[in-house]
Amino acid sequence: MWPYHPDLLATPVPRYTSFPTAAEFGPLSPDVTRDAIQRAEGDVSLYVHIPFCEKICFYCGCNTGASGRRQRLDSYLAALYREIALTASLLPRHARVRRVSFGGGSPNALDPVDFVRLMDRLTLEFALVDPVLSIELDPRSMTADWAHVIGHVGIERASLGVQTFAPHCQKAIGRVQAEDEIVRAVDWLRDAGVGSMNFDLMYGLPMQTQEDLVDSMHRTRVLGADRVALFGYAHVPHIVKRQAAIDDSQLPDAGARFAMASLGYSYFCTHGYAPVGFDHFAKPGHDPLARAALSGTLRRNFQGFTDDEAPVLIGLGASAISSFPDLLSQNEKNSGRYRMIAGEGRLPVERGIARSDNDRLRASVIEGLLCQQAAWVPPALRAEVSDRLAVFEDRGLAAMQGEHLHITPEGLPYARGIAALFDPYRQQSPRRFSSAI
Ligand SMILES: C[S@@+](CC[C@H](N)C(=O)[O-])C[C@H]1O[C@@H](n2cnc3c(N)ncnc32)[C@H](O)[C@@H]1O
Repeated sequence: MWPYHPDLLATPVPRYTSFPTAAEFGPLSPDVTRDAIQRAEGDVSLYVHIPFCEKICFYCGCNTGASGRRQRLDSYLAALYREIALTASLLPRHARVRRVSFGGGSPNALDPVDFVRLMDRLTLEFALVDPVLSIELDPRSMTADWAHVIGHVGIERASLGVQTFAPHCQKAIGRVQAEDEIVRAVDWLRDAGVGSMNFDLMYGLPMQTQEDLVDSMHRTRVLGADRVALFGYAHVPHIVKRQAAIDDSQLPDAGARFAMASLGYSYFCTHGYAPVGFDHFAKPGHDPLARAALSGTLRRNFQGFTDDEAPVLIGLGASAISSFPDLLSQNEKNSGRYRMIAGEGRLPVERGIARSDNDRLRASVIEGLLCQQAAWVPPALRAEVSDRLAVFEDRGLAAMQGEHLHITPEGLPYARGIAALFDPYRQQSPRRFSSAI
């Protein structure tokens, strides 16, 4: 079990899926993003956001809304097609797209035929070069037709929103799904040729006990998940209004949350999975994510830990974030406004931040600490953080070895807090973030 230092977890910290984080984004002219797309070098990855789910769960912090009326989906897809065409026309001819990820929301809130059209559109507009295709799926809206399309299109990686198998926790978070629905989705996807199956699980849920968590992890393993993402439930009703439906008196306290995170980590590490960063796990051997974690090439992007090494990630769709070496840029979040702007053939960029050399240096330290638990720290940064770092060093959670800072195995649950020492923006407004565990 990990050592518990509540004082080191008291301050909320970002998840650092980017640095600077989205909290630092300000208004950004679409011309800046246009220029970055035109200058793209090397491989390009695409992320396509589908901000719809058939049913909305009240725990969910993702940018999604009820799929509802057919016309809403149609006009969203029409706008997305315009954005796809415009973006592809701006990319240099030599840019090769090696990955396409579909996320949400739940892309399978779309009609499977619409998804085939979307895939066709991407294929026609971009130079897709034997791309790795992945998709997030809601097991409740999986159908045989969807599985057929996934097989036909050649999607190799699927991520299922499982969250918990415990019926009382499911009820408390507004996400009731029978185990049979998950089993059926797994069977369909395996038959369709999906080689890498991820399960998203959560701890820190209302009324969740350690036994509930062990039971969910056990079922996950028995169902053969190749990867697992184990997220601490982030309860931020001041930001995500629908979470107000959750009775916060039923949430486990900080100590119980920490014990669950620790239990989850030791469970997967002793049941056939390699740790990937601090909250992902993958079966070692064939899995590229596990290989990246073991070989030191793991990266972090807006989707979490990844084996994607492409220098450019272009986000398409409402709220999608693009990452270029010197720029982070986010699309309009509101899907109605997105439809209007992209539908008029304009780049639907709303916010972002240019990355200075100093930001990039700090980003590489933060990413190294989270992905490899080690980073080279230049002398000026070492001097800047030394007092605050001593708190972690004194408790054996981090150690300098020459010019490299290492997070010790006991320090893993404090990795985000240690990374935050290098984040100069972090001195203000911590309330925007969730707890570090
Ligand atoms: C982008 S969401 C996609 C949801 C997915 N389509 C589904 O079926 O639920 C990805 C994951 O984020 C996690 N997540 C969502 N809201 C969360 C919250 N408030 N705290 C922690 N994790 C959350 C869930 O594990 C979820 O599966």
